[in-house]
Amino acid sequence: MTTLTVPQPSKYSRILGVGGMRGERVVMNDEIVGPINSSDEWIRQRTGIISRRRANPETSLLDMCETAGREALAAAGVEASEVDVVILSTITWFEQTPAAATIIAERLGATPAAAYDISAACAGYCYGIGQADALVRAGAARNVLVIGAERMSDIIDPTDRTISFLLGDGAGAAVVGVSDTPAIGPTVWGADGGQAHLITQTHSWLTFQDGTDTSWPTLRQEGPAVFKWASFKVAEIAKQAIEAAGLEPEDIDVFIPHQANMRIIDQMAKQLHLRDDVIVARDIAETGNTSAASVPLATERLLREGQATGGQIALQIGFGAGLAYAAQVVVLPNQTHTV
Ligand SMILES: CC(C)(COP(=O)(O)OP(=O)(O)OC[C@H]1O[C@@H](n2cnc3c(N)ncnc32)[C@H](O)[C@@H]1OP(=O)(O)O)[C@@H](O)C(=O)NCCC(=O)NCCS
Repeated sequence: MTTLTVPQPSKYSRILGVGGMRGERVVMNDEIVGPINSSDEWIRQRTGIISRRRANPETSLLDMCETAGREALAAAGVEASEVDVVILSTITWFEQTPAAATIIAERLGATPAAAYDISAACAGYCYGIGQADALVRAGAARNVLVIGAERMSDIIDPTDRTISFLLGDGAGAAVVGVSDTPAIGPTVWGADGGQAHLITQTHSWLTFQDGTDTSWPTLRQEGPAVFKWASFKVAEIAKQAIEAAGLEPEDIDVFIPHQANMRIIDQMAKQLHLRDDVIVARDIAETGNTSAASVPLATERLLREGQATGGQIALQIGFGAGLAYAAQVVVLPNQTHTV
């Protein structure tokens, strides 16, 4: 009888290295409060944001992805030629096709890696890690480069009070490869399209074509409703990820939630009953909310500054438009080299 050869699965996967690039410009609260009748004090108190990072006009989404990707590969000690798949999560690549990931793979020298974009907004990086883990364990790839990147300043309305003042630009990346020991727990993920209206684009790009609205679409949210959902419902998802990994909350060394609002971060940490000495990522204070880039950038910072170290157990969770969410427990990488 004829039988097919199928991929040989690997037992485990792990994050081998992370990298990141933040927008070059430091944008202080005072620079943006005028058009929204706000204040530095209000933004600090309600969100914990002191400043956000935004890209220079000449710095493209692809430029930030390339830098973050190179840094992650160097940190992982993996050559671009050893990457089989490049997954980019973004909502700010303005060409329907080709996927930005294909161009990044080419720039990095990772061709002919399979390359594709995913759209899961602030949950996107954790969606990507879930996919990379599955691809590596299934034997469909040896190394997967996952990038979360946004140039949110392209969809900001400076007069919008609901979300624009939170947003920043950047790219974060991770290389996921084969592991001898378990290092990425099950991904608990999902979406609730019934509440998709809570974070949306103001109008469709098609309004340009039919002439009904030729203004540039920007982002809006119903802040208080999103705040409630994130602080309570999403905390349940994080609990499920801990359970799915066979752990207890006290086993978590590092908590890396999406950097949406410092008050949400604090509320989630409280709901989860994490240890008093747990390290909590607070990159939002100086980077702002960079959507898909926020979890990998927060991770990169913790490792670079020595607040967290390789081998520690981290709970990471992304959540946002969709309302999409994804969480998993991971072992932080022993970075072999940082650029
Ligand atoms: C956006 C957000 C910071 C607003 O904070 P909030 O505490 O919920 O504020 P509210 O909308 O309840 O408004 C409270 C007051 O602040 C005012 N206000 C709202 N936005 C303001 C702003 N940007 N600047 C100054 N004042 C503002 C309101 O007018 C209101 O004033 P009033 O009490 O006199 O009526 C908060 O809701 C939030 O962070 N939401 C979730 C964000 C998030 O996780 N997004 C995920 C997407 S990735």
